[in-house]
Amino acid sequence: MKKQMDVIVALCRRRGFLFQSSEIYGGLNGFWDYGPLGVELKRNVREAWWRDMVTSHNELVTPSGAPRPYAMVGLETSIIMHPQVWKCSGHYDMFHDMMVDCKECKARFRADQIQDSQCPLKPSKHPGEYEKCQLTEPREFNLMFKTYVGALSGEEGAAFLRPETAQGIFVNFKNVLDSTRVKIPFGVAQIGKSFRNEITPRNFTFRSREFEQMEIEFFCHPSESRQWYQYWRDRRFQWYINLGITSENLRLRDHEPEELSHYSVGTADVEYAFPFLPEGSYGELEGIAHRGDFDLRSHMEGKLIRQGDGFVVETDENGQPKYRGSGKDLTYFDDQTRERYVPHVIEPSAGADRATLAFLCEAYCEDEQPDEKGRPQKRVFLRFHPRIAPIKAAVFPLIKKDGMPEKATAIYSELKEAGIVCAYDQQGAIGRRYRRQDEIGTPYCITVDGQTLEDDTVTIRDRDSLEQIRIPSREVVEEIQRRLRTT
Ligand code: GAP
Repeated sequence: MKKQMDVIVALCRRRGFLFQSSEIYGGLNGFWDYGPLGVELKRNVREAWWRDMVTSHNELVTPSGAPRPYAMVGLETSIIMHPQVWKCSGHYDMFHDMMVDCKECKARFRADQIQDSQCPLKPSKHPGEYEKCQLTEPREFNLMFKTYVGALSGEEGAAFLRPETAQGIFVNFKNVLDSTRVKIPFGVAQIGKSFRNEITPRNFTFRSREFEQMEIEFFCHPSESRQWYQYWRDRRFQWYINLGITSENLRLRDHEPEELSHYSVGTADVEYAFPFLPEGSYGELEGIAHRGDFDLRSHMEGKLIRQGDGFVVETDENGQPKYRGSGKDLTYFDDQTRERYVPHVIEPSAGADRATLAFLCEAYCEDEQPDEKGRPQKRVFLRFHPRIAPIKAAVFPLIKKDGMPEKATAIYSELKEAGIVCAYDQQGAIGRRYRRQDEIGTPYCITVDGQTLEDDTVTIRDRDSLEQIRIPSREVVEEIQRRLRTT
């Protein structure tokens, strides 16, 4: 069944996953707000990434020699940085899309997205057809949001909202080396907001103007960088599979040489078959780039440009660096081999919002189940991996009397005290309560019923298999914890 994006978007709004930003004022294109369930879902995605990549990461890797552990540490850097950062990184000059304007309706489009000079905002009288309209010549449009720092309103105070979190890591490379005992190879991870003034934000949160990235800059010896690139491609692809994306909806695609970013010597994208795309098409979830020594050298020496197989500092008409680097030493000294070098960088760069959207789309399922009277009913359920489900368990008293609510409330409190995000619901028929939880992806429902009052057991129902088991009520917390750990 091809999933329908409009159905998923409607569910997200109805159940409080996602709202348009500033909706009561008509919304602001390219900006989104996460509702009470969305915020839990996205937080779980971020936490799964941070735990798997940083705090609990325990990989032993063998690019050459014996298997060895490598360090992963975190950073949280500022959104607004020194403007020179973006000049040396190349974003100031090169981070742009080509855009065209429609002279008639004044709408703006990405030049590579408007086909046959047709203006999608001017539908003709015939459905599905568009009037021809006059377009301007394509011109460059820098995607960085500009702002002004302090009281200076002129160019002196001009700064930019970061379009990627990566640069905050590069400019802190020396600080991390000097303040920790990490040795190459090691990785630095960061999760944070990035901003791009996208010309045509579209497809729900897929292309937004404010979004969150989960990036790793992995520093390694140049002679091992190809192996580490392969390692991160495979590891990051597997991460999505482990969290429930099925392999037929996910693929790893190597960039063609002409697609490569200005810094990249090799990039592969993890892509997902989002339902808003035509059948057989995929959209980028994450890019894994081999950035060579481009970034550290740029921040040392000045903005680099490609020359032949390598990079040189770009100069102005006087032969001076076009944009000066920091002049700081960003090399690494290996005290075992006595070698000094500029490390190479492998960068797995994921979007937290895109990953969240992919998990939502993947989770959406429909089936048919009998209602209380045995009549077939359509059931909508979100088949989230328990680790990312916004609510892990819901507790119900079968009826609102005979001490059942008191018992159910006590179990609910025990789950809460154990740090398990859970819900309590005593409204309406039990079947409807199950449906409400299915629709938001709660993996386990615990019901207190007549038998509980006799033998102190409760049922636990599994969202996907619909299987119910009965266990002593004192074992509920342990059982839910066990399931969350082992699935
Ligand atoms: N540091 C490298 C970098 O930023 P990118 O491919 O431009 O690379 C990395 O972005 C990831 O950030 C993308 O794979 C995507 O998941 C996310 N991303 C980029 N632009 C986005 C946008 N406009 N809206 C939502 N997510 C975006």
